[in-house]
Amino acid sequence: MNTIFLIGFMGAGKTTIGKELATCLGKPVYDTDEEIMKETGKSIAQIFENVGEDGFRSIETNTLKRIPTKETVITTGGGIILRYENREWLKSSGTVIFLDVNPGEVIRRLKDDHTRPLIQANKEKNIHEMMLARFPLYMETSHFQIQTTGKSIKQIILEIETCLE
Ligand code: S3P
Repeated sequence: MNTIFLIGFMGAGKTTIGKELATCLGKPVYDTDEEIMKETGKSIAQIFENVGEDGFRSIETNTLKRIPTKETVITTGGGIILRYENREWLKSSGTVIFLDVNPGEVIRRLKDDHTRPLIQANKEKNIHEMMLARFPLYMETSHFQIQTTGKSIKQIILEIETCLE
């Protein structure tokens, strides 16, 4: 089995599901945001503040391409699909699973979040607009799509395993 990429909007549960999936499959797990923070020694918010979104996206692309893509589970930042280059890399480097979630659920989960710079102002409006704009990109990048709203971690893992059979 090759590498599995989990993509989806902020708050979709990619990191949590990725860790659990990796344990079940006995594979190492990498998270692009965690790798970026390790590499730079800065938080995501600090990077946005220092070099802006564009600068962050360049670091994100470099990190994505550096993470080993052999028999691993890789969880990604919600905006990874914004760059064409990343979408092509994801599609051709493994199996890409889109964890889809309802906007209402994202708003509930990220209500008190202060770590994600893109949704700090006008949170609800931004979440709705960004999800709508990004949806086609998640769809075109993924080999499989899983609706996660209202499902347990176990249920989602089972669905992913079914996709991988
Ligand atoms: C972002 C998602 C975040 C992080 C950064 C930008 C986005 O990751 O990469 O704040 O543009 O959707 P998570 O999806 O893990 O929250």
